[in-house]
Amino acid sequence: QTGLTALDYGFVNTASTQSEITYIDGNQGILRYRGYPIEQLAENSTYLEVAWLLIYGSLPSADELAEFDEKIRRHTLLHEDLKRFFSALPHTAHPMSVLSSAVSALSTYYEGTDPDDVELTMVRLLAKLPVIAAYAHKKSLGQAFLYPDNSLSFVDNFLRLNFGNMAEPYDIDPTLSKALDRLLILHEDHEQNASTSTVRLVGSTGANLYSSISAGIQALSGPLHGGANEAVLQMLAQIRDSGEGVGKFVERVKRKEDGVKLMGFGHRVYKNYDPRAKIVKQSADEVLAGLGVADPLLDIAKELEQFALEDEYFKERRLYPNVDFYTGVIYKAMGFPTRMFTVLFAIGRLPGWMAHWREMNLDPQTKIGRPQQLYVGEAERRYPGV
Ligand code: SDX
Repeated sequence: QTGLTALDYGFVNTASTQSEITYIDGNQGILRYRGYPIEQLAENSTYLEVAWLLIYGSLPSADELAEFDEKIRRHTLLHEDLKRFFSALPHTAHPMSVLSSAVSALSTYYEGTDPDDVELTMVRLLAKLPVIAAYAHKKSLGQAFLYPDNSLSFVDNFLRLNFGNMAEPYDIDPTLSKALDRLLILHEDHEQNASTSTVRLVGSTGANLYSSISAGIQALSGPLHGGANEAVLQMLAQIRDSGEGVGKFVERVKRKEDGVKLMGFGHRVYKNYDPRAKIVKQSADEVLAGLGVADPLLDIAKELEQFALEDEYFKERRLYPNVDFYTGVIYKAMGFPTRMFTVLFAIGRLPGWMAHWREMNLDPQTKIGRPQQLYVGEAERRYPGV
């Protein structure tokens, strides 16, 4: 639709830039998963229903969704040896490092089985990634790991694994559950961003899905990408604690003092308001009120946004809030530590990563990815004395 070819994107093989999964119009601020506007999915769907949509191209029937949900519940247990894997890591390990390492280790339990059983691998990853994530959280707290409870929904099981403990029953808060499901939907796919391109590039070599997802998690961890949601909270807390005020901080950003950036602002594609950020901002007030949480960081975020949107520096560079700008305030209100924010992004993005990996590997035209380079180095030179 853009008239550009793969060569304009720097990838030699065309299959790595063609996709039927997600459409983004960066100027209009439009995002659609398989043609469905993100606003309608966020309001009416669920994480697992959208996961099926992204992977298989259509919304599942009620029976298909029920069977998918049931299969995932049946695969939540980790091998007991894999649980011991966590004891090899320091409790200070960043949960994103734990997540990537554990997913890579997960593949070792299935070597020799049918590596081509992509459908089963996708079910295993959807079922086990949240458990690994919760164990990384519990590990950082020095708390015991709980076993999954397959009578609970996907999101409720995840919440209980994170916030439940061995000593007492865990009461599910429906506000929390619905809000987290919506946030996960908003993160499920975003076309060929850095981490999805990583998953596709690694997958194009013939590496298995676990390895490709492990690489995607590492790519997502960077502060310019998924790591931004953690960096936004640190930025807001720094503004609060320093007492410098929003205005002074914005001036430092404009001066590019020490490379400081307005984290959660700007985007490679959106040169308008990120439609996901709009939805998150709307639900931030609702979720915090529903949880009975008042957080001055939300007020700082709103003041910061107002300041930036009215400032020529940001307007002329077409810098708007992106998906990471408000999510952290909600995750914090839910009780997640800041270092778990990008892990939540990874759980959200897993279906999109797998949908792209599967789409690429189903395409017989796919060749190994080989980003094109423009050589700007020295012309031929002669070795001394030769
Ligand atoms: C995600 O690709 C995706 O789809 C990603 C994602 C997904 O769902 O997968 O949407 C998720 O990663 C969102 C982005 C999260 N990252 C951040 O919030 C980090 C802060 N943002 C920036 O680092 C930056 O905006 C990027 C990396 C997101 C985008 O960079 P661009 O589009 O390459 O912009 P640029 O670096 O070319 O900047 C253009 C100008 C520069 O100024 P000048 O050199 O022209 O004077 O805008 C400035 C930049 O300095 N600028 C910023 C800024 N972002 C860009 N200035 C201050 N604060 C910022 N955040």
